[in-house]
Amino acid sequence: MTVPRFVAAKGQRKLSMLTAYDFTFASIFDAAGVDSLLVGDSLSMVIQGHETTLPVTLDEMIYHGRLVCRAAKHALVIVDMPFMSYQVSPQQAVENAGRIIKETGAQAVKLEGGVNQARTIKALADADIPVMAHVGMKPQSVRVLGGHGKVQRDYDQLRADAMAAQEAGAFSVLMELIPRDSAAKITQELTVPTIGIGAGPDCDGQVLVSYDMLGLSPDDFTPKFLKRFANLRAISDAAARDFAKEVAAGTYPGDAHSHV
Ligand code: KIV
Repeated sequence: MTVPRFVAAKGQRKLSMLTAYDFTFASIFDAAGVDSLLVGDSLSMVIQGHETTLPVTLDEMIYHGRLVCRAAKHALVIVDMPFMSYQVSPQQAVENAGRIIKETGAQAVKLEGGVNQARTIKALADADIPVMAHVGMKPQSVRVLGGHGKVQRDYDQLRADAMAAQEAGAFSVLMELIPRDSAAKITQELTVPTIGIGAGPDCDGQVLVSYDMLGLSPDDFTPKFLKRFANLRAISDAAARDFAKEVAAGTYPGDAHSHV
């Protein structure tokens, strides 16, 4: 997958995207035919255990980006620009996105914003750095929003953000937590692909946080858009309990798992 092929898929077929943070899961998703792997700043929460996406650093994103790129043979790898790695100025954004592209091997970066980041998106595009814009519910704005998870309903603002991102040179727009009708209208209007999460079925593609999709996140995390395609938390829990029990009982390792 390349950026031009990703863009050309609009109107031809739906695009799939999953977050990935390490070599093993990235290899599995890549071999399964997922079109794009997003090294999301959700790793701040999912991998590092923080309450928001704000603490993860640029160096940490680059580290995880490298692990995912090492695994990706087909998928388009996109790395999130973390909080405060691009908000200061377009020059700061180009320098930091340049580091991401050079040091990870990823094909593109993602940043949160539309109208308010148009100058930065243009600066990245002018530097030949493909950029995906993230509009709607923007997790890096958590301090302003007062929390995660609220559906963004201001259609005029959503449309303006998506259009501004496209006009500034974004090759795709991710839309998070917006009403499906708004997502459908914006998708029709844009010439670049839209990727939805909590934005209904009419986007050009769909993304999920892989740990949620696999059922690894806690059972009480139940946003309406989330479908768990597996229940790896329960499977992992049962396996860990069995392991601990067998070790305690002295039944593991038995003859079958011992060298003679
Ligand atoms: O960081 C992330 O996981 C995201 C999601 C919206 C897919 O940006």
